[in-house]
Amino acid sequence: MHTRSIFFVGTICAFLTACSEPPDRDPRAVREGQRIYANECAACHGGGMEPGNAAASPTYVVAPDLTLLKRRNDGYFPREFVSRFVMGQLEKDDPASPMPDFSAQGLRNVYPHGGADGEVLETDFENLLDYLETIQR
Ligand code: HEC
Repeated sequence: MHTRSIFFVGTICAFLTACSEPPDRDPRAVREGQRIYANECAACHGGGMEPGNAAASPTYVVAPDLTLLKRRNDGYFPREFVSRFVMGQLEKDDPASPMPDFSAQGLRNVYPHGGADGEVLETDFENLLDYLETIQR
């Protein structure tokens, strides 16, 4: 897709997200998302409650605290942004930062033996976003 249309679609989605209250999250989905977070994200972004761990990142770009996404975004969780960023569809502030492109590498710590062909499964990813939404403060 053309870069400009990606931006346009992203803007529409962000607008829709802003207008809708987050639905109640299924506790099982959230627990599953927490497991994925612990395996794939916590090493750099912290345990989910504390700030990121600069030492874990080879270039010492501090990984942002993911519990502050909502606060930093006018009070709503930027689900669409997070989704796109994690899937490598958005430009990083620092192109050399170690934030992985999960659409390319898959959830390799969750599926170390290549389960699900190493791909990021839609459900896994929705669970992860549900979990991230619940840890916003
Ligand atoms: C190897 C370290 C590392 C891992 C693993 C990692 N990240 Fe990151 N992440 C970073 C760094 C560093 C940045 C800052 C990148 C930048 O802006 O250039 C970042 C940025 C982000 C951002 C953008 C936040 C903002 O406010 O701009 C999101 C969202 C994010 N990561 C989510 C995740 C999720 C979800 C996972 C797990 C699926 C994950 N990251 C795994 C290092 C990591």
